[in-house]
Amino acid sequence: MLNIEQLIAAATSEFAGITDAAQLEQAKARYLGKSGSLTELLKGLGKLPADERRTTGASINRAKDQIEATLNSRREAIKRAALETQLDVSALDITLPGRGRGRGGLHPAMRTLERIEQLFRSIGFEVADGPEIEADWYNFTALNTPENHPARSMHDTFYLEKAPGLLLRTHTSPVQIRYMQTHVAQHNHLEQMPEIRIIAPGRVYRVDSDATHSPMFHQIEGLWVGENVSFADLKGVVADFLRRFFESDDLKVRFRPSFFPFTEPSAEIDVAFMSGAMEGRWLEIAGCGMVHPKVLRHGGIDPERYSGFAFGMGLDRLTMLRYGIDDLRLFFENDLRFLSQFC
Ligand code: PHE
Repeated sequence: MLNIEQLIAAATSEFAGITDAAQLEQAKARYLGKSGSLTELLKGLGKLPADERRTTGASINRAKDQIEATLNSRREAIKRAALETQLDVSALDITLPGRGRGRGGLHPAMRTLERIEQLFRSIGFEVADGPEIEADWYNFTALNTPENHPARSMHDTFYLEKAPGLLLRTHTSPVQIRYMQTHVAQHNHLEQMPEIRIIAPGRVYRVDSDATHSPMFHQIEGLWVGENVSFADLKGVVADFLRRFFESDDLKVRFRPSFFPFTEPSAEIDVAFMSGAMEGRWLEIAGCGMVHPKVLRHGGIDPERYSGFAFGMGLDRLTMLRYGIDDLRLFFENDLRFLSQFC
C-alpha cells in the first residue's frame, strides 16, 4: 500500500518540523482525528473485498501505531526543550553576593529608655507601669489638681467622648498613686512599709504640636518614698543619674524653684553642658519635688511618718540632647535614613 507508506512518511516529516506543542496537536488531528487521513482510510475499508480488507486493515493499524509513536516522542522532545529554555531563563548566578537580612534596630527613644532603666536599676529602682487611658481622678484629682485647674481644660487634654471620666493621661504621675495604692495593699500587714523606689516610663498625650512638641511623647516618672527621704536625696539621685546618663562629670545641674500641685516644694531641673554645641546653655529637662502630703494620703500612705520625692523627665528631650537631634518630629516620621543611624 503505497498510500499508507506515504502517509507515514508525511506525518513523520511534518511532526519533526514542529516545535510548538499546540501546533503538534493540530497536526495530529489531521492524521488521527475524526476526519484525519488515516481515519478516512479506515472508513474506506468497507468498500474493499473481504480478503483485501483484512491485510489493508492490519497495515492501517500498524501505520496508526507508528504515527502515534512518532507523535509521542515529538511531544516529549518539545516538552524537554521548553523545560530547557525555562531553566536557562531562570538560571541562578551562584557567584552573586548574598542579599543578607534586613536588620531592625531599636528606636533612639527606646535606646535611651533602656539606658535609663539600667542606670536606675543599678541604684535599686524597679520599673513600674500604668494605663495610657486613665481615670480623671488618677490623672488630676488624686494629684491635688483641683477641678478648675487650667491643665484640665479641653485645650490641653484629650478626653474620651463616649467615656466620661476617662482621658489620655497627660503625664506619668498617675502611676505614683496607682503604685502607692498597690504597694500599701501588699504590705499593710507589716509594721514597717518597705521603701518605694520606682521609675515609670511611658507614653503621655497633650493637645500640642510643633517642632518641639508632639501630641504624644514619652515621660519617665520617678518616685522614692520611705522614712526620712529628703530633698537632698532628690538632688543627689537626679544629679548623679544625669552625669552618668550624659557621661559627663562636669555637667551642670540646677534646681530652679517652680510649682506643681502634687509636689511641695517643687523645682524644675535644668542642665548645662560645659562643651560642645550647647555649651553654657541651660536646658529644662524635668520637673520634680517632694511628694505633697495630700498625694501621699491618696496613695494610702501616712505623710506624718513617710516622705518622698518624685520627678518627671521628658524622655524625648533627653534623647535629643544625648544624640544632638534638633527636631522632635524626626522621631515619629519613620524615616530610615534617620533611624538607621542609631542601629
Ligand atoms: N508631671 C509633671 C509634668 O508632666 C512632672 C513632674 C513629675 C513634676 C513629678 C514633679 C514631680 O510636667
